[in-house]
Parts: sequence; structure tokens; C-alpha cells
Amino acid sequence: MVSPSGSDEAVRDTEAATVESVKSFYRRASFFESAVNLLQWDMQTYMPKAAAHYRARVVSEISMHVFKLVTSDELYHLLTNAQPRDELEEALLRVGLRELEKVRRIPPELYAQFVQEAAMCEHVWETAKKSNDFKLVAPHLERVLDLVRSIAEYIGYERDPYDALLDKFEPGMTAEKLRPIFAELRDFLTSLLEKFEREDDDRDPFCVKIDVNRQRTFSEWLLDHLRFDRSRGRLDVSAHPFTNAIGFGDVRITTRFAEDDVRNSIFSTLHEFGHALYALGVPEDLYGLPTGASASFGFDESQSRFWENIVGRSLAFWKGVHGKFIDLFPEFSHLGPEELWRGVNRVVRSHVRTEADEVTYNLHIVLRFELEHALINGQLGAKDIPSAWNEAFKKYLSLEVPSDALGCLQDPHWYGGAFGYFPSYTLGNLYAAQLKVALERELPLQSLVEAGDFEPVKEWLRSKIHSKGRLREPNELLKDVTGEELNLHHFKDYITTKFSQVYGVSIA
Ligand code: CO
Repeated sequence: MVSPSGSDEAVRDTEAATVESVKSFYRRASFFESAVNLLQWDMQTYMPKAAAHYRARVVSEISMHVFKLVTSDELYHLLTNAQPRDELEEALLRVGLRELEKVRRIPPELYAQFVQEAAMCEHVWETAKKSNDFKLVAPHLERVLDLVRSIAEYIGYERDPYDALLDKFEPGMTAEKLRPIFAELRDFLTSLLEKFEREDDDRDPFCVKIDVNRQRTFSEWLLDHLRFDRSRGRLDVSAHPFTNAIGFGDVRITTRFAEDDVRNSIFSTLHEFGHALYALGVPEDLYGLPTGASASFGFDESQSRFWENIVGRSLAFWKGVHGKFIDLFPEFSHLGPEELWRGVNRVVRSHVRTEADEVTYNLHIVLRFELEHALINGQLGAKDIPSAWNEAFKKYLSLEVPSDALGCLQDPHWYGGAFGYFPSYTLGNLYAAQLKVALERELPLQSLVEAGDFEPVKEWLRSKIHSKGRLREPNELLKDVTGEELNLHHFKDYITTKFSQVYGVSIA
């Protein structure tokens, strides 16, 4: 069926190259991807530990098959010869070809070497993190970096090799566009932090032990409260929460439980719910096609952040769930909705990105962006990471880093070869704040959230964003929905207004 790269069979009769044949090609590939997704979901949830080695080989074999399919000469031939009949078909060919051409520029041996080195490096990283020993992983990371740098050269770029990598996560975004946004954000947030510091008290009302069973009940109740469609998805538990869109009409989300902090599971569940809605909102006629994905990693994250932060950390939300919360957790019955709301919005300088609040979170990302940009451009080597990290951390968050495990070893991204990924998180936060403004021009968000009437909000997001899949570039989609390009003002305004209320002070 599939001709190996370079074979004569690749040249086919152009009459066979129709958009229908392109679609059916992608759909067949997506069936294999669906199988891989299910196998991976199982790996991260219920699979017995001893099966890990064999399962990894199964996943890798099927993934390699998919990779061959979607990089094949046959697909290239179909994409370059099919004639689009409308805008949708034009977008399919454009997005498909864009992806395919990028991958085809990378020599297969180089790519295979990268996959192998990155897998090894991530494996060693786990041990390095556990034993707090950066030196263990440094030589592996240096090799991964070398390979990533040459992959960027093969993919090509106009000004900055980093752009070749960033484009995979945020099509059309460049380091040049990001730099001023991130610099402004950094200055805004560091000065805001100083103002909060004076207001801070260290009473954390959530410092109470809560058994996992009741936490699980609350997470399930939250999904009911949000009218999560149980016929098309389910909630399970994993070490690191994730969303996996297995196939059409089947999205699995996970959460995690921490006995000493009930907030952990609540916000993980809300976050993944946001990702799940996006996946469920892609229409069937786009499903399995390159245009049937989310617009970008940043856009996907905007949806999870919207439900986690803009909805889940709002006062309206806590007024709406207060009764049920107190019911399940009488430990908190002395607290009103406002006190709970303040408790889920405490601003604390901390070392770990995934535990950061809305104010400090983006500082963690700015730091990572600056370092990975320097790493890709060769201004920084792998061995320099710990000192560069600690220095930047001191500068932005005024904290000493006690160990690399709590510093540069905390995230897997770099060790797994994912350079250019981190900015998606901050872009997600910025998009979400801008989307909120657009949504509130049409809907009374706060009163809907308080009343637990989420359907109009979900429908707004579905019709404006989810249903568009990847038909538009992220910057075009943002403009379609909000009427303007990315505008940092909306995030700054959201944060200033919200935290003035949380702390009961004027900080404008
Ligand atoms: Co996410």
C-alpha cells in the first residue's frame, strides 16, 4: 500500500490524486494513531508495571508505521496533485503539505538518531532528577541539543533557528515576536509580585488532610456540574494529569490526588476538562485530518487555562460550588465562598512551575524561553544550564534554588527533545484572557458561572474555536474571535483587576 521513500512506485497516475483520496489516506493513518493513543492511555493508567517494556515496543512499532505513512511519497504525491474544490479542501492540502514538507527536509537517519537519543536522555533524566544529579544527564542533553540544532537547520528558518522549532507548537510564531511580549510580561509580573508581598499573610486555609475518596467524588461531581458528556469521555487517575483524545467521540482525562492539598485534584480536573472540550468540539468531517487538530499548542492550553483559572479560580465559581464543597468537606465549613476563593488564589513565590499561581506562573515560562532560546542559538551549552537557571531564578523570583531537582531538572521537556514547547503555556494564558474579554461582550460570564449554567459558554467556545480545528493559523483565529491580534493588555488587566480584589488593595 505504502511505497517506501524514493521508490518508483511513488509516481502514480495523477487522476487518482483527489482530495477524497487524501482524506482517506489520513483517516487510515489516524486509525493507527487511535490505537497508539489507547495503548498509551492504558500505559499511564491501568497497565501492570511489568508490561512496560513490551508495550513500549508495540507503541514504537505502530508509531513508526504511522510516521512512514504520513511522510510517504504516496501522500506527497496526493497532496501536490489533488485539486481543492472549496476553502476547506484548500486548507486541508495547505496544512497537510506544510507539515509533510517540514518533516521531509529532515534526513531520516538524523531523525531516527534524534528519537533514540531523546528517549535515552529522558530515561536518564528520571534518575538524574531522583538523585538530584544534573551531571548524569548533561552529556546526553548535549547530544540531544546538537541533534535538535541540526534538525532546525534542515527545517529552515528566516532569522532564528529557534523559529524552526517553535513553529511546530505555534505555527507562525517567532522568537522576534515573543521577545518583546515576554520582556514586558516579566517586568509587569516582577513589579506586581513586590506589591503583593507586602499584603501577604501566610495562613493557608487549604492546609487540611483530605482523603482521596472524597476528593475523587468531588472531581466527578465537578464534571457533572460542568455537564461533561460521559458518553464521550471519562476521568481516571495518573501520576501526571493529561488528556488523551483516543478517537472520535472518545476523550480520556486524568487527575491526581494529593492528600494534603485538595486544590491539586480540583484544578487538574478543571484543566484537563478544558482540553477535553476542545478535542470533543472538533467536527466529525475534520476528524482524523491535519485540519482536525487544535489550532496550536497555545490555543489548546488557552482552553484548559480558561476552565482552570478564568472559570475555576473565579469568585462566581466558588459561590456556585460552595454548598457541595462544604457538604463533602465539612473540614472547611467555617469558610465562606470568598475565603475559599482567596485560598485558591494565593500568590506565592515557589520553585515548581506546575504548582505556580496565575501571577508567578508566567515568570517560570519566561525564564525557560530565554534559556532554551540561548541553548538553540549556541550561546549556552547543556553544562551551563544549572548556573544560568539559578541566576535567572534569583533575578525573576528572588529565590535561591535549593537543588537542581527543584530547578532545571523539574520538567521533562528539554530532556525529551521538546525545545520551543514552553512558550505555549504562556501564550495559552494570554489567549485565554483575551478570549474572556471577547466572550464577555456577548455573554454574562460571571452570572452564568455562578448559576452553574455553563452551556452557553461551552457553545461559544465550540462554535468560535473548537469547531474550526486547524483551518486557521493561531494568530488568524485569535483575530477572528477577538477582533484583534495578541494583545498583552488583556492579560495584564485581568491579573491586575483580579488580584486587587483577592488582596483587597488597589495595585493598578
Ligand atoms: Co495543559
